[in-house]
Amino acid sequence: MSIVFQQAHIISPPDGLDTKGSIRVSDNGIIETLSIGDTPLEPRRGEKVVAMEGKLLSPGLFDMHCHFREPGQEYKETLESGAAAAAAGGFTGVALMPNTTPVIDSPQGVTFIRYHAASLPVDLEVIAAMTEGSRGEKLTAFGSLKTYGVTAVSDDGTAIQASQSMRLAFEYASNFDMLIIQHCEDRSLTTGGVMNEGMWSSKLGLKGIPDISEAMMLARDLMLLRWLEEHKLHAPLSRPRYHAAHLSTAASLQLIREAKREGLQVSCEVTPHHFTLTDQDLYQAEKKGNFIMKPPLTSPKNRDAVLEALADGTADAIATDHAPHALHEKECPPGEASFGIIGLETSLGLTMTELVMKGVITMQRAVELLSVNPRKILQLPPIRIREGEKANLTLIDPEAVWRVDAGHIRSKSSNTPFIGRQLTGRPLGIYHKGIFTEAPGA
Ligand code: DOR
Ligand code: ZN
Repeated sequence: MSIVFQQAHIISPPDGLDTKGSIRVSDNGIIETLSIGDTPLEPRRGEKVVAMEGKLLSPGLFDMHCHFREPGQEYKETLESGAAAAAAGGFTGVALMPNTTPVIDSPQGVTFIRYHAASLPVDLEVIAAMTEGSRGEKLTAFGSLKTYGVTAVSDDGTAIQASQSMRLAFEYASNFDMLIIQHCEDRSLTTGGVMNEGMWSSKLGLKGIPDISEAMMLARDLMLLRWLEEHKLHAPLSRPRYHAAHLSTAASLQLIREAKREGLQVSCEVTPHHFTLTDQDLYQAEKKGNFIMKPPLTSPKNRDAVLEALADGTADAIATDHAPHALHEKECPPGEASFGIIGLETSLGLTMTELVMKGVITMQRAVELLSVNPRKILQLPPIRIREGEKANLTLIDPEAVWRVDAGHIRSKSSNTPFIGRQLTGRPLGIYHKGIFTEAPGA
């Protein structure tokens, strides 16, 4: 059955669209008609009509940093429950980090995910491990991973500590035009740490993680990258590309800003929790476990630097680092809590509430950060809203005021610091793979 999205506000930066319009999608999932302007499309008999009444319609959102825990830790999340959480959050695609059990470090692992992804409502892209078992030693087979459609490698959850291994990873990756995604953490500085080192960690008597541990690793990587370029040590035809995950500090973002100015091929993402919360929020929280993650929530100065990076273009993408953990791994003393929080179902609401509504960025830029740029960074084909293209869409109510409710969470885990928080702006649903999936409560 075809479907009409009637009288929407269509925002699609790649198509230069920021306009009123209606869209008819035929039953094979292709955009049949794009009608710009106020006039509604004449519905056909038996056709489903979604009255948008000026609500937003954008290219499908994409989260480039998620952990779905399958294989191995299905009690936290499965591919199916993760995909349901993604769809509920307005995402039509996500990229999965490889730190499952076992680690996704071979074409077999990639095939496992792809096989299961085929029947799910959202796309699951695979980021493979950079080193075998993400142990930071032997590099994985980048070339054969590339032939299986993998465009990026990462040991997320940790970083390659040895500079020699990192040098080899850069050189090797450039042979296959493979993106390196680094979780920037100098472990010699962070071992045993629970939360950001500062006044609040002292008050709580918790071992601190110094914020320089992030920039320290990033600076090393950028020095290597610069040196490889200067001496032309990378593959002759392609330059190494580097993406820094979940950056959270002023020093790191300044390093990225400078590296971009120099012309290095670098990009970075930031998370909703780092642009919203600080370590003081952890101090004041009752359920502290849900405020524990890596990198940790940090000072207002660092939080403001994340906001500045979003506003001035230093940050390329918003990614959730959706990291589900079970109750018993979070409702425990903070020093024993697992690192990470879920994020798929609050990312859009936080982006709209904290960034768009407060004037930090425009809605167009929000769509770039949540859809256009992450796809570009991972070399995925752009989503276009025009006739003849596959419909891959997110529907958004920019004015809906709602409260994050644990009972409505689709993820298998509910470890989020945002339970009870009031947000403005929420996904109404997604249209992808020929199917319209309405968001819960929409
Ligand atoms: O808080 C985190 N949790 N940070 C990471 O880098 C990994 C993630 C996880 O896998 O739980
Ligand atoms: Zn992660």
